[in-house]
Amino acid sequence: MTTKIDITLSETKKEKPESGQLEFGRVFTDHMFVMDYSPTKGWHDARITPYEPISLNPSSMVFHYGQTVFEGLKAYRTEDDKVLLFRPEKNMQRLNLSNERLCIPQIDGDFVIEALKQLVAIDKDWIPTAEGTSLYIRPFIIPTEYYLGVAPSKFYRFMIILSPVGSYYKEGIHPVKIFVENQYVRAVAGGTGKAKTGGNYASSLKAQEEASKKGYSQVLWLDGVEKKYIEEVGSMNIFFKINGEVVTPELNGSILEGVTRNSILKMLSHWGMVVSERKLSMEEVYQAYKQGLLEEAFGTGTAAVISPIGEFYYNDEKITINDGETGEISKKLYDTLTGIQKGTHEDIFNW
Ligand code: COI
Repeated sequence: MTTKIDITLSETKKEKPESGQLEFGRVFTDHMFVMDYSPTKGWHDARITPYEPISLNPSSMVFHYGQTVFEGLKAYRTEDDKVLLFRPEKNMQRLNLSNERLCIPQIDGDFVIEALKQLVAIDKDWIPTAEGTSLYIRPFIIPTEYYLGVAPSKFYRFMIILSPVGSYYKEGIHPVKIFVENQYVRAVAGGTGKAKTGGNYASSLKAQEEASKKGYSQVLWLDGVEKKYIEEVGSMNIFFKINGEVVTPELNGSILEGVTRNSILKMLSHWGMVVSERKLSMEEVYQAYKQGLLEEAFGTGTAAVISPIGEFYYNDEKITINDGETGEISKKLYDTLTGIQKGTHEDIFNW
C-alpha cells in the first residue's frame, strides 16, 4: 500500500468561472489525484498532477464491461477561509463496498482522505463561496488491463477530480415533478443497486429521457421484482412525510445508502420526529394522498442535497403534494444540512 504522494504542480492556471454562472460538473480545477493498482505492487504511484487527459489503449477494460465505481462529496470554504469536508469517511466506506461488489481491490480510506485533503488544499482557490455553490469531489476507479475477456481486471486506476459547482438544479431548491416509472427498473434484488457503479446510471437514462419528454424532471423507481415498492427517485434516495411519520425505503440491497440519507435520518431522530426505514408501496402513498395525509416528499443526495417533490404522475393521475410548494421539513433539512456543511450551523454530530 502506497503512503507517499508525489506532487507536480501545474505551470499554468486556468481561468476560474464566475460563481454565479456555475453549472453542475462542467468545469474542472487545475489538479487531480491519481494512483495505480497492479497485483504485485498493490495501490502505488500516488500522485497529484496537473488536470490533463489520460491515454489508454482501446482494449482497456474500462471501455467494455463497465467494471467502474465512483463517489461524490463536497468541500466548502468558510468565511474565515477554512476548508470543510462533509463526512468523507462515509464515502470511503461506501467506495469499498462498491469495490467489493465489482471485484475491485479495496482502497485505504484514511490514505485517500489524506490525498483528497492535499488535492483540495492545492486547488483551494477554486472552492466557490456564493450561496448554493461548493467544490464537488469525484473519486472514481477504472479497470485498465488490456484484455477483452469477461473477468475482473488485474490493473486499475484510481483518480480524484474536482469541479466547482452551482446548484444541481438550475432553479436551486424548488419542487420537481416526478413520473412514477412502471416499465423500466433501476436495479433488482441481487444486482448492483447498492453499489455506486456506472452501469446503474447508464440503465436509468432511457426512463429519464422518456420522462423528460413528458415534462417530468425525474422518475420514481419501483422495485425490480413486483414494481410495487418505492426504491429511489432519479439518482437520489427518497423520503415521504405521511400523517406525521417520515418514511424512507429500507435498505434492501438494491437501494444505494446515501450519505445525505443517513445524515437526514440522524437529524430527524434528533429533532424527535417519528422516522422509519421500511417497505413503502406506491399504493400506500396514493392512499395517503387520497385521504389528505401525504404531507411532503423529497429526494436526497450529495449533488442536490434536498430536492422537494411537488407532483407525481401515477397511473394516469396527477398527485399534487403541498400545493406544489416546498414543504416545511424539506426546507428545514436543507437549511440545517447545508448550514452544517458550510460551517454556519452548529455541528452537534461532528460531521
Ligand atoms: C447525488 O445525488 O449526489 C448523485 O449521486 C448524483 C450524481 C451521480 C450526480
